[in-house]
Amino acid sequence: MTSWSDGYVTDVGYTTGYYKELAPHRLGLGFLSLGLIPPQVQTACELGFGQGVSLAIHAATSSAQWWGTDFNPEQVAFAQDLITNSGTNAHVYNDAFEDFVHRRDLPNFDFIALHGIWSWVSDANRKHIVRFIDQHLNVGGVVYASYNTLPGWASMLTVRELMQTHARREGIASESIQHRIENAVNFATKIFDQSERWNKANPGTVERLQRVAKSQSAYLAHEYFNRDWQPMHFGQIHELMESARLSYAGSAHYVDHCDMINFTPEQLGQLASCSDTVLNQTLRDIFTNQGFRRDYWIKGKRKATPLATQDWWRAQNVLLTANTNALPSTIDGALGASSLVDTVYQPLFEALSGFTIRNVGKLETELATKGIAAGQLRQAILLLAASQTIIHVQPEQVIAQVTPKTQRLNAYFQHLARDSNNISYAASPVSGQGVEVPRMQQLFLGARASGRSTPTDWALYAWEVMNAQHQRLTKDGRTLETPSDMIAELTLRANDFANNDLPILCALGIA
Ligand SMILES: C[S@@+](CC[C@H](N)C(=O)[O-])C[C@H]1O[C@@H](n2cnc3c(N)ncnc32)[C@H](O)[C@@H]1O
Repeated sequence: MTSWSDGYVTDVGYTTGYYKELAPHRLGLGFLSLGLIPPQVQTACELGFGQGVSLAIHAATSSAQWWGTDFNPEQVAFAQDLITNSGTNAHVYNDAFEDFVHRRDLPNFDFIALHGIWSWVSDANRKHIVRFIDQHLNVGGVVYASYNTLPGWASMLTVRELMQTHARREGIASESIQHRIENAVNFATKIFDQSERWNKANPGTVERLQRVAKSQSAYLAHEYFNRDWQPMHFGQIHELMESARLSYAGSAHYVDHCDMINFTPEQLGQLASCSDTVLNQTLRDIFTNQGFRRDYWIKGKRKATPLATQDWWRAQNVLLTANTNALPSTIDGALGASSLVDTVYQPLFEALSGFTIRNVGKLETELATKGIAAGQLRQAILLLAASQTIIHVQPEQVIAQVTPKTQRLNAYFQHLARDSNNISYAASPVSGQGVEVPRMQQLFLGARASGRSTPTDWALYAWEVMNAQHQRLTKDGRTLETPSDMIAELTLRANDFANNDLPILCALGIA
């Protein structure tokens, strides 16, 4: 830990993850489904952007101008590199929140987003964040914040306390933080395995710890080994956001908008009789044993009229991004997996087949002849958009505007993939979001972009890159040592990529 870190883990850089909820384009679908008017986002800011993968992708895929800060200089340097190479004019700072709040060279924002920050900083820092929001969010603007919540984390409070205490008091200062973490997790697993009364009251702790042990050490360090870690009840964050004149808008996780797949009829009855926002959300968290919330807050909530909502939906375009053999038949809610109704979803999947962008108004007319109501269509789009099976397509002029930026960023991701699997995402100008693209596919895309035209050529390119670094694949538990085995396997993978993934990446404007 360093003097500037304020108790925050800095010995291990954060993961290079991507979080779609930080994308401003998702606000439209989310807010209209909640019956609210979304903001037009021209200026956006990410607080605590980590390695900056989400920020770089959103600066490249949206027409908004982006700002952001993170106090870890190594991470800021990495983020700056991504931004420079994509040619966007995002502004990234290396300020702590308490300094960022005093900057005089920042505009006001339509969207302020923070993912993985709120629960992992001190009370004082939460107040700096709230002050920043109060001073810098435009009227009509939205805040997205994710945070660990109770009751889902209740039993882990004690587990985390034990792991922290072990790392602090038993760990040797000269040991690496990864080593101290590993020892602390093993120690906690052993102790809870022996704690019969605890396990009776809190079943599943040991299994949870076993899952924790398998996590990436960069995630573990930031989740469990910061000085500050504060899962919160909804009412507590509500009070703080209210002090910055924000109202709760709704969940950024679209699946939460569909009560039928999350609550029993009895629970629904209870929720219906409880109109107070804080009480209602608290009941939801208890019913679902919620451990992680992804919420939108708005400064100046405005309801969308039914007519405006209908006009908005009819003007939207969507794209199905799953192959026929990979279409979902269920959707996961808090009640478990719910089956998708065949009479609605089959005609919808058929209408959307072929990876072509379709207009929702036209789909509405077409599917009405099959007995599918507009409300059913909208709900199906929303639920499938939660998992990015259906993409809510950006307006044509935005796609045209952002495509050059996304191409440069994606080319840089492909370049980085030559020697690391750090970043497994690409930026889609069509969806305004990041899309998962693992390293091997990045290599195939890189080969294709450099003019190699067949899957065999792409496989040879991947082989050259990997062989230069003495890297080998494994298959069926066996390492492929010989060049011919490696090339054969890479060719198989390149053909599979060409047949299954490439058409989708083309439709998303990535390839
Ligand atoms: C758990 S990470 C999340 C990173 C990123 N938002 C993501 O989800 O990938 C928290 C980030 O907040 C940054 N951070 C923590 N306290 C901060 C502070 N007081 N001021 C600025 N950045 C801070 C850390 O450096 C770290 O990158």
